[in-house]
Amino acid sequence: MPHDRDPLPAFHDDLAAAFAELWRLLADGVVQGRSAFHAPSLATVDAQGRPRIRTVVLRAADAAAGTLRVHCDRRSDKAAEVAAHAAVALHAYDRAAKIQLRIEGRAGLHADDALTDAAWEGSRAMSRVCYGIAPGPGTGLDSGGAYTVPDEAAALTIGRPNFSAVVIQAEALDFLYLDRRGHRRAGWRREGAGWIGGWRVP
Ligand SMILES: Cc1cc2nc3c(=O)[nH]c(=O)nc-3n(C[C@H](O)[C@H](O)[C@H](O)COP(=O)(O)O)c2cc1C
Repeated sequence: MPHDRDPLPAFHDDLAAAFAELWRLLADGVVQGRSAFHAPSLATVDAQGRPRIRTVVLRAADAAAGTLRVHCDRRSDKAAEVAAHAAVALHAYDRAAKIQLRIEGRAGLHADDALTDAAWEGSRAMSRVCYGIAPGPGTGLDSGGAYTVPDEAAALTIGRPNFSAVVIQAEALDFLYLDRRGHRRAGWRREGAGWIGGWRVP
């Protein structure tokens, strides 16, 4: 946990370093289960224009492309919401880093393409099990346990038709670092192939 006597981080007054730190934290979140950025909240918009939000696991963060990837069941509400309305947001606050990241962008739902095949191949059996669940996510049940999950051998293939990858093209980034010696907030907006950014009042 950072302390007041610790030197200020390099990104405290260096916008380019803050941008690099944002993408470093996201990439770290993909591989580090203890990072808050491993399981951010994904917000979507439903058919009535209402916000919907839930936790998802961050599966990829590509700073060069400005994209993030998460996985979901094609039968889920979020999949339908993304398919109908591409606007999404991701959010997480990591207490250890004292950094909140907010990402807004446009999401694409991938199901029957090479990208999704590769994502499925890269998933572990314990992750694939969820996609073989029946009936589909969100279906009402007579009792809490009245659903089935495949065993791990069957899970290797059975869930593939229900599996989808959501690729988010980031369009706006917001970085907030909390420090009693001076909070720092920065934001960037996508401009063509690059980003336009600046410091903001926290
Ligand atoms: C720690 C954690 C990680 C989760 N990861 C995912 C995920 O990667 N993909 C997913 O579809 N749901 C994930 N879920 C479940 C969702 O939060 C949500 O409950 C479920 O997908 C139904 O959402 P929907 O009805 O809005 O589609 C996760 C939940 C938790 C608590």
